[in-house]
Amino acid sequence: MLGPVILAASRSDKMRRFVSAAPGTKQVVARFIAGESVNDVVPIVQDLAARGLEVTLDVVGEDITTVEQSYAARDAYLELIGRLKELGLGTRAEMSVKLSMFGQSLDNGHELALANVRPVVAAAAEIGTTVTLDAEDHTTLDSMFAIHEELRKDFPQTGCVIQAYLFRTEDDARRLAAAGSRVRIVKGAYKEPAEVAIQDKAEIDKAYVRIMKILMDGEGYPMIGSHDPRLISIAQELARRAGRKLDEYEFQMLYGIRSEEQNRLAAEGHRMRVYTAYGTDWYGYFMRRLAEKPANLLFFVRSMLTK
Ligand code: FDA
Repeated sequence: MLGPVILAASRSDKMRRFVSAAPGTKQVVARFIAGESVNDVVPIVQDLAARGLEVTLDVVGEDITTVEQSYAARDAYLELIGRLKELGLGTRAEMSVKLSMFGQSLDNGHELALANVRPVVAAAAEIGTTVTLDAEDHTTLDSMFAIHEELRKDFPQTGCVIQAYLFRTEDDARRLAAAGSRVRIVKGAYKEPAEVAIQDKAEIDKAYVRIMKILMDGEGYPMIGSHDPRLISIAQELARRAGRKLDEYEFQMLYGIRSEEQNRLAAEGHRMRVYTAYGTDWYGYFMRRLAEKPANLLFFVRSMLTK
């Protein structure tokens, strides 16, 4: 019941101001956000790499409102890629981006987001890594998939995300499960209406399994984005049945969630990538993490009360 309320609050400026100023917020945010700057995140990437984990880095931010902010987003990623190059971490870390941070919802936003993300994808390719386009709410997805297709003409390794809760996703998965494509499947983290998305959790899980099967049986590279132990073991079984080797798919989880399980899968020889978010505009990302698990909200409220 609480999830939809928190997701609605994640889009409220009033709540943003309240949560940002609340005592105890910083401590809870730090569980999910790896730091504020590139300098904060570099030692974390080095530590994850030393533990045999791969990384995807996300500079937090979304729904920006000015063209200048969209340029700043592009520049933040270019700065990050520059640092990864200096440190020789290019092959361990890829990037995840949200196109709404690159200007997608502004006037002429589709073209602006494409123009901003292209140099980021090109810089990533230069250091031997790649970029995955995150999936945001359903109204943004036609534009995201069109940008993904356009980028793949020059940078075929560019990945994208599909969300199991959307009715459209099985068709998207069939279209994307082609040779050379990289597709992350997740359950879906936004508040979506019943006209476009499954509302029942068990039904979302069933859709997730059907979509994983399409990806595993296809010719692309599936990236299983989930912390759900049941789905992880089904993924392993589907990969085995599809005759995939351990380096022909990967698991992905979020920084700060089920770290032991991340270590366990890596120790078993799986490619395990940790989605590591950093930056100052953490509000939307943080609220989605609270919505996913009510216990997080309880922890947050407790930490406010004890400050
Ligand atoms: P589920 O929510 O059922 O959780 C399974 C178990 O994992 C829980 O019981 C709990 O133990 C643990 N867990 C899950 N979330 C937790 C949390 N916040 N705090 C503490 N424990 C938690 N979504 C989207 O719409 N677009 C996107 O681009 C992405 N990108 C993305 C990348 C990666 C690498 C991951 C792992 C996830 C995303 N997501 C996403 C988020 C995704 O849609 C979904 O909301 C979360 O992964 C939670 O779903 P699970 O599959 O983990 O299952």
